[in-house]
Formats: sequence, structure tokens, C-alpha cells
Amino acid sequence: MEKLELFFIPSPLMGHAGQAVELAILFIKHFHHLTITVLVVKLPGDPIGTGYTDSLTDDNRIKFIHFPVMDPDLFQDCPTIGFRADAVINRHKPVIRSLVASRIFDGSGSGSDRESHHHHRLGALVIDMFCTPMIDVGNEFNVPTYVFFTSNAAFLGIMLHFQTLQDDQDEDIPHLVLGGSMGELTVPSYASPVPLGVVPVLFWDPDQWNKRFIRYTRRYREAKGIIVNTFRELEHHALGSYDDQTPPVYPVGPLLKPEKPNPNHEVLQWLKRQPNASVLLLCFGSRGCFEADQVREIAVAIERSGYRFIWSLRRPPSEEQKGFPGEYADYNEVLPDGFLERTAGKGKVLGWVPQTEVLADVATGGFVSHCGWNSILESLWYGVPVATWPIYAEQQLDAFQMVKDLGLAVEISLDYNQIDKNRKVVSAEEIEKGIREVMDGNCAIRAEVKEMRAKSRMAVKEGGSSFASLSRLVDDIMQPSSWNN
Ligand SMILES: *[C@@H]1O[C@H](CO)[C@@H](O)[C@H](O)[C@H]1NC(C)=O
Repeated sequence: MEKLELFFIPSPLMGHAGQAVELAILFIKHFHHLTITVLVVKLPGDPIGTGYTDSLTDDNRIKFIHFPVMDPDLFQDCPTIGFRADAVINRHKPVIRSLVASRIFDGSGSGSDRESHHHHRLGALVIDMFCTPMIDVGNEFNVPTYVFFTSNAAFLGIMLHFQTLQDDQDEDIPHLVLGGSMGELTVPSYASPVPLGVVPVLFWDPDQWNKRFIRYTRRYREAKGIIVNTFRELEHHALGSYDDQTPPVYPVGPLLKPEKPNPNHEVLQWLKRQPNASVLLLCFGSRGCFEADQVREIAVAIERSGYRFIWSLRRPPSEEQKGFPGEYADYNEVLPDGFLERTAGKGKVLGWVPQTEVLADVATGGFVSHCGWNSILESLWYGVPVATWPIYAEQQLDAFQMVKDLGLAVEISLDYNQIDKNRKVVSAEEIEKGIREVMDGNCAIRAEVKEMRAKSRMAVKEGGSSFASLSRLVDDIMQPSSWNN
């Protein structure tokens, strides 16, 4: 079989690079004629993300090319982390273009000394959903480009739907969403009508929509295919909802971070000593944090519920940190008096939590989550039901989908949003109710989640739906007909 190399171009945003690496590992595990080169772009001012990507080193058939971190001063004008990531990608276009050019013309990559990569034809670019300018590079050199969509199939559907409404039917999407008099929208990729309150800011903020997201979406339609981190059994409805202007969509998930059991981690040792399904995990993602008044409500709810718990509690970012939360030197600054003493035997409060390993432990029985897509896939994989508390990005919509469309999660909030200055504090009563429901051993959702756990594991096995879809994708990449159109 002809040997092929693929270039992967992940976004520098947290979570995206990790998923791209998992996708690369999946490819080479099953397809021995493929090698992969990952082009690693870094986000200035993001030490955690850079720490992660710096740790990536060559594997047998996966090679990493690390670009140096750019000067943060170049990106002073970027209003959000998303815009910064976008600008960083655009500034890397020339260097990536010349890398592809040298790969095409002398077949050796940029100074690559790797025999195994030398003799492989460059078969495709696999670019992150936020790296669509790289489609130009693929087109210029006649290399097919596939988009790797790290969110879910329903969200891909709403992006495509809104782009069509705006481009073909002259709707102004931010206006439509903000001024919606109906209170809800019908969107083909969601089975239930979508309440305006869960429509993410990227659709109603004219800058985000018109300068970033509609541009990405238009270009998805030019891609050779769209790879999505989901599986058919979970998102059957959404995967069947795309219009005929959509390129082939390949659900290949769930792609998850591998467990890295670290038996020395204090919290994992503690977890080992707790009864099955007795511990509640509260964890809110890399950018999740709360103001002091909200922290107190959570603390009261945890204490009143009486459940064991592991709580990842982080300090809201200062101005200089530009969007990334920090750690408390002393949790007593924000927790109610005596909380830590009273709950000492029952729970742990800490900054960073090894989320995957905690979810993997049988002692974990429920998860209050921000509903980032990675976290949802992980919770299903380990069969731990979620209580939804979305914070940023498109998490409100994912929470809505999990609760209303899929019946796979308990609701604490669907529309909480970090950027909403007028947001209401979620009361201790509401939180406690959600905790009790998600920890209830007999709740119907727990049974549904167990079933989905089995389906998610089936999907990626040989003969499973995602495995079949991955094989189809590799076949399509191998086809010479993927060239020249
Ligand atoms: C706890 O769960 C594990 C794994 O599912 C199982 O083997 C074990 O029997 C359970 N223990 C109890 C006390 O139910």
C-alpha cells in the first residue's frame, strides 16, 4: 500500500491540541502505512497550554515540529483569547506554507532526518476547526484538507445552519438571536427547539460571529471532509441533519485523553478508600472559575447535601492573566468559616484535579461539570452522570443538548454564563437539588449513562461505528480522486 504522510495543524487553544494528538495516535494505531507530522503552534501568554505542547515528543510514526512562542506584544489588540489564537494562526501561515512547499518539492520536510517520513507522499492536511486559513495552503499545493471539528456534531450543525441563513437568506444572525421574539429557535441539528438563552455568545456578538465564526464555517464547506469527535449512537439526530452543501462528515470519537494513573496523587489515593459511586466531582474546565458569592453558595450546597466530594476551586483571573484563572493561596479566603474543618474527612478542595483519573475511579458517582465537550465524552466513557453548569464558549448549548435532547444529564443550570455581567448567582438550594439528583443511585439518567458508556466503547472497537467511519476516511484520503478537485 502506498505510504502517506499527514500534516496535522491543531489550534493552540487548550483542549484542541490534545484532541489532535489523540486523533493522530488513532490513525497510526490502525493504519500502518500512515505517518503524521504535527505542526505545533503555541498561544503566547498561556503557560499551561504551552507546558502541555512542550511535552509532546516524537513517537515512532508521529513527529512534532514546534514553532517558537511568539511575542505576546504582537497580540495586544486581540479582544479575546479566541481572537488571539486566530491571529497567532494567521501569523504562522507563511512558515507552514513554506514547510508544505518544501515537503512537496523535495519530499523531505524542513530538515527532517526521519527516514520513515521521507518516502511518504503528503496525503492530506488535517486542520483544527479554528485553522481554516490553512485551507489556502492545501489548495495552493493541491493537497486535500480535512477539518477536525473538536466540538460536537450538533454544534457543527448550528454553525452551518446559521451561516446558510445569513449568506443565502440574508438573515443577520446576531440580530436574529438577540432580537428573537419567539424565545426559541428551530435548528435542524437539535431535536428540541433551542432557547435563546443557551445560544452561545459567538452567535450574538457581531464581532465574534462576523469576524471569526461565520468565516470558519464558510470554509468548512470547502474542505474535503469534516472529522468530528463524536459517535453515531450519541448524536444520531445531528449527524443526519446536515444540508447537501456539507462535505462528508466522519464521526470518529470519542477521542479521549489517555488515563495516566498517578497513584501518588493524594486525591487519587484518598478516592481509593471511598465506597463505590459515593464521591461527587466538581470541576469547571481550564477557564472555569466563580466570584466569591457564587463559591459560597456551592460550598453551602455541598455541605448540606452531605456527599463526599472533590472540588476544583480556582481564583478568577486578574487583569494581567487575561482570561486564565489562578490558584488560591488559602481557600479560607473564599470558603465559609470552618468549611474546610467540617468537611475534612468528607472531601477535598484543590486547584487542579486529575479529572480523567477521578472519573475513571469507581468511587466517583457524579460530576458537576461545565460541559466542555471533552468532559462530556469522558463522563460518558466512564459512566458518570453529569449535572450541568455551563460557564463559557458553547457550553450552554452542550448542556442543553445533554439535558433536553439526549436525556443524559441533570440540570443545575443551562444558561449560566461567565461573560454575562448580570448573571444571577445560582442558589445553594438549586445546586443542592442538582447534586442530590445526580448522586441518586436510582436516577433514570444513571441507567441511560451506563448504556451510553457501553455504546461509546463499542463505537471505537473494530466493527464499531466510529471505527468504520475512520476506515472510510482513510480510504477517502488514499483515493487519488481526492486530488484535483
Ligand atoms: C465496586 O465496583 C467494582 C467495579 O465495578 C466492583 O468490582 C465491586 O464489587 C464494587 N464494590 C461494591 C462493594 O459494590
